Amino acid sequence: MSVITTRRFLQAAASLCAGLFLVACGKKEAPPAAVVAPAPVASAPAPAPARVYVVGTDAAYAPFESQNEKGEIVGFDIDVVKAIAAKAGIEVKFVNTPWEGIFNALNQGDRDLLVSAVTITDERKQTMDFSAPYFDAQQLIAVKGTSKVTKFNDLKKLKVGVQTGTTGDEAVTKLQGKTSANIKRFESTPLALKELEAGGVDAVVADNGVVIHYVNNNAGSKFKTVADASFTPEQYGLAVKKGNTELLEKLNKGLADIKADGSYDKIYAQYFGAPPAAAPAAPAASAASAPMPAASK
Ligand code: ARG
Repeated sequence: MSVITTRRFLQAAASLCAGLFLVACGKKEAPPAAVVAPAPVASAPAPAPARVYVVGTDAAYAPFESQNEKGEIVGFDIDVVKAIAAKAGIEVKFVNTPWEGIFNALNQGDRDLLVSAVTITDERKQTMDFSAPYFDAQQLIAVKGTSKVTKFNDLKKLKVGVQTGTTGDEAVTKLQGKTSANIKRFESTPLALKELEAGGVDAVVADNGVVIHYVNNNAGSKFKTVADASFTPEQYGLAVKKGNTELLEKLNKGLADIKADGSYDKIYAQYFGAPPAAAPAAPAASAASAPMPAASK
């Protein structure tokens, strides 16, 4: 065998080996890389050990969510989610999110979940998923102390303030008709209530817990509340993006846990004075057969 042939043979063999080596390496890459991975943490987008779930909330809704003097987001909803998160072993971060864009933010993935006194409705269920209910609510009318309004139907021809896109908005729209010019829509419920004080509207329809809280904390405005049994009973749920069952299961598990161990009742009592079973948030003006969240205990 000539020298040249031998050299060629060796060259060919070498490149063949190299090729095989690469193929072998390529195939086997995944397992060894994963095993050795911990070192290059800085560059590799390794699975974050503590993922922080971003919680959207429209923090102009005391006592459920509001901002304190320090700008911190506080309230019943916040405490409930913090307690759920602790049980579920997840980290959460609350981000003030205007109500009008809140569902969009969830859909776009800018928020992982919402806690914002969000009523579970069939319509919303089509575009997002809800946890088990965590709070019972109902619409309540706020009027000036001198008002003659005694029932919801009395608002048919009056100027009524609501927060845009809320269940209060829906109820009044149903009463007055879609094209009514007497429905005044505001970006927050407190703004609607301020307008009632200013005389720009004759009534405000909003969630009972928020209306009661406002009336109790703004004695100067001399409002009174009018309950009406014809309002559909509502329940609040935590919302996640449609199909995010992984997070939803964690939330539901955490919620069941805090209901079972009494921490939910403690939070409830802190904000509403009595355990939920004994006294609902408002003097519920009956409510035929409200499915109680107690059922999920
Ligand atoms: N429960 C009502 C609804 O779901 C009003 C909720 C408004 N929440 C808020 N944080 N502004 O339509």
